[in-house]
Amino acid sequence: MSLLKSQISAIIDKELPLITNLSNASAVLNQLEDINWCGFYLVDDQRLILGPFQGEVACTIIPYGKGVCGTSFQRKETIIVPNVNEFPGHIACSSISKSEIVTPIIKNEEVVALIDIDSPIYNRFTNIEKSLLEEVAQLLSELF
Ligand code: SME
Repeated sequence: MSLLKSQISAIIDKELPLITNLSNASAVLNQLEDINWCGFYLVDDQRLILGPFQGEVACTIIPYGKGVCGTSFQRKETIIVPNVNEFPGHIACSSISKSEIVTPIIKNEEVVALIDIDSPIYNRFTNIEKSLLEEVAQLLSELF
């Protein structure tokens, strides 16, 4: 198990509120190198609302199917964006962000939240991060 995944596993306490667990999980994710934003969007009535995060102020509401997050929500799969300027409909919360990865957290075959990470460099995210975030998402799905 990767260090990051074992750290998240260690901080999860199912007795505590979701927001408490995701707050600490965002702090663990923030240890990844070369990122400028990481956090969660939570599904709320077929849209996404901002959850716990680390980084600059971000968009609070993302509609289903919009932006990278809304598209990941719709497709129920991880999306890696090597260059945010080339992703049609990308929602720019920060001009610093150049690449992005979004992984859905799925519970009972429904998306309940998303993990979103932005980087200030192009091509930051690969299948290594995809596998890592999908494992983390599976861990966190137990909280929902
Ligand atoms: N870029 C995202 C919006 C969220 S921020 O990156 C924090 C998107 O296009 O959905």
